[in-house]
This record gives sequence, structure tokens and C-alpha cells, in this order.
Amino acid sequence: MEVLEWTEAISIENQRIDDQHKKLIEITNKLIEHSYAHAQSVFVSDTLNELRKYTEYHFHEEEMLLSKVGYPKLEEHKREHLFFLRKITFLCQDVVEGKDTVTQELIDFLVKWIKTHTSKSDMDYKKYLNQI
Ligand SMILES: [Fe+2]
Repeated sequence: MEVLEWTEAISIENQRIDDQHKKLIEITNKLIEHSYAHAQSVFVSDTLNELRKYTEYHFHEEEMLLSKVGYPKLEEHKREHLFFLRKITFLCQDVVEGKDTVTQELIDFLVKWIKTHTSKSDMDYKKYLNQI
């Protein structure tokens, strides 16, 4: 099973954001690792809720920082965040309501999106952030 890993290669060189990315990866991995063993359990839906709430918090923090440094592609970046939140809210509705378990589709989406976003989109703002 594929899990995510934080490495120096995706470091933003900002302790706060790096720590948040590590935490985001940790929650996602917890969800992946337990979604098979604990299918339809309260633990899985709680972890999914935890992931959504933490993502909301992290995106907000990131957007505030980027706005402070005048990142030119902020609107585009915000749209990526919004897309992610809408998608996971949609994909996990049944899980949270206890009707279904975490699907492979949801896991694949999480892994792919987080990998691409942290290694490309987040990397793009790195130089702006480190000007402060
Ligand atoms: Fe981001």
C-alpha cells in the first residue's frame, strides 16, 4: 500500500508550514493504513473528519502567509485548495455518514493530490515566502 512521506525535497524552508505538511501527511497515512483494517469504523470516519479539518486550517494559514508576501499566483493556489476541499467533502460524505467505507478512489486522490501539490504548487511559492 502506498503511503506518503515527507522529505527535505518538499521542504518550504519555513518551519511552520513544513510542520503542517508533516502533520497533514501523518493524518493521511493514518487514514490509509487503517481504512482497510477498520472499514466502516468510527475511527476511519473520525480520521477523515480530522483530515478535512486540519486541511482547512492549514490551507487558511498558508493563504494568509502568501497574501502577506504578495504571492502573485495566490488566486490560482486558492483554487487548488478549494478543489481539494470540495472533492474530499464529496468523496467522504458516505463514509462520514457511516454508509460506506473509504474507497480506493478516495485514497488514490489523496495520495496523488498531496504529492503533486506539495512538490509543485507549494514549491512555487517557496522563494516568495523566504523573502520575509
Ligand atoms: Fe498549498
